[in-house]
Amino acid sequence: MSRQLIKDEKLRNYINGKWFFPSTEKYADVKNPANLETLVQVPLSGEAEVAAATGAAKIAQKKWALVPAPQRAEVLYRVGLLMKERKEDLSQLLTMENGKVIEEARGEVQEGIDMAFYMAGEGRRLFGQTTPSELKDKFAMSVRAPVGVVGIITPWNFPIAIATWKSFPAIVAGNAVVWKPATETPIMAYELAKIFEEAGLPKGVINVVFGPGSTVGEAMLEQDDIRVISFTGSNDVGRNIAAKCGERLKKVSLEMGGKNAVIVMDDADLSLAVEGILWSAFGTSGQRCTACSRVMVHEDLKEELEERLQVEIAKLTIGNGLDESIKIGPVINESGLKKIKQYINIGKDEGARLLTGGYVMESGEHAAGHYFAPTLFTDVTADMRIAQEEIFGPVVSLIPVTSLEEAIEINNQVEFGLSSSIFTRDVNKVFAAQRDLDTGIVYVNAGTTGAEIHLPFGGTKGTGNGHRDSGVAALDVFTEWKAIYVDFSGKLQRAQIDVE
Ligand code: UN1
Repeated sequence: MSRQLIKDEKLRNYINGKWFFPSTEKYADVKNPANLETLVQVPLSGEAEVAAATGAAKIAQKKWALVPAPQRAEVLYRVGLLMKERKEDLSQLLTMENGKVIEEARGEVQEGIDMAFYMAGEGRRLFGQTTPSELKDKFAMSVRAPVGVVGIITPWNFPIAIATWKSFPAIVAGNAVVWKPATETPIMAYELAKIFEEAGLPKGVINVVFGPGSTVGEAMLEQDDIRVISFTGSNDVGRNIAAKCGERLKKVSLEMGGKNAVIVMDDADLSLAVEGILWSAFGTSGQRCTACSRVMVHEDLKEELEERLQVEIAKLTIGNGLDESIKIGPVINESGLKKIKQYINIGKDEGARLLTGGYVMESGEHAAGHYFAPTLFTDVTADMRIAQEEIFGPVVSLIPVTSLEEAIEINNQVEFGLSSSIFTRDVNKVFAAQRDLDTGIVYVNAGTTGAEIHLPFGGTKGTGNGHRDSGVAALDVFTEWKAIYVDFSGKLQRAQIDVE
């Protein structure tokens, strides 16, 4: 690795182009979930750092907004190239701090690289609209204007990809950023801040403040100069953010939970469905907001699916994700394990049948880390808590159904609406399902994960509040529409009055 990760190294905040230790002088250990080794120490900063970051961002943004967008984009191209150059190092560090297996870590870093080049391209688009005026000799158009200083709060499950989903569109659109990364996974943020610095992003355009939501996050909500908050994380935190931003009339974009389902119809290619379920249920140890945690299977295929999934689950190798032969890594921490374990007990109490897994792995090499055995429940009914609530772990529940209509109804009977999937070879079912599944993302003959960066990412109902990350839609979060009218008639023309 080109950058030796020094054990117990204290990370620093990045504010106004400089690296600062926190004024609180407080830190927390960041542990590798695969073996609980301490990797680095993350600052537990406070209000003072948020105020400094916001002040720096406010000044920097005024200049940055005047840099032509294609030139702003040049910085993102350089960011993308540096990420590409360091892809392997970044991926290994990501596996170490988050636990996801190296193949998935590489995929996540690639997602960030793709976003850099895609959003850099927006520097030459950022399209607005021109439209005819209702009056003679008058020109009308709308342009995207930056919002100003934006606050981004990112989660530990995709510590680099989601950071790029939010910071890159914000920056290309002419904003400055105050960013609070998850304290569990600060190394990706540290590395990305260094890349921004090396790529020549002017000081103050991005500021990284490490620390807990209760201090750093709350302080960001209270800063009047932060005009947008873009958040990905849990529903409880998101609701609190929305309420506080509501009081202050701050724009807020929320990306939260999921209870995503795969539907397996009686005409499905079952081998493909098995692969899709395994990948989307157990990838990232089920800690994706897009993870598949329910499978509505046609009753005719139920037994066969149960058997085939059990056979395949038994083959999954579980361990330290740096080892290329490992398929499933650890879960993030002790409280993650505890929550998953609680849901196993809830499922059993509710009468679901546990086919495999359901326990914390504590023997041999697994004793050193936070490992949970991939878990399969069957004979689950739609109203059970394990079929309704987000577990965020490697647990999937089979719910037998008799028709597509029933499967769609069950799919839609949850609080969330992020991702859904159907395996079928019937084109009529495909089109009915894509219309009727009430989720922001629908997959046909693929699992529930794997969104691409140039399409909108987000969900309906309790998953969010109507905004989207990724794609052109992300620009809507980080820009204001400005309507511009140019009257070249030389006289005062009154809209809606001078109609003749
Ligand atoms: C998330 O889980 O918060 O579609 C993001 C996917 C990934 C991103 C997941 N590209 O599963």
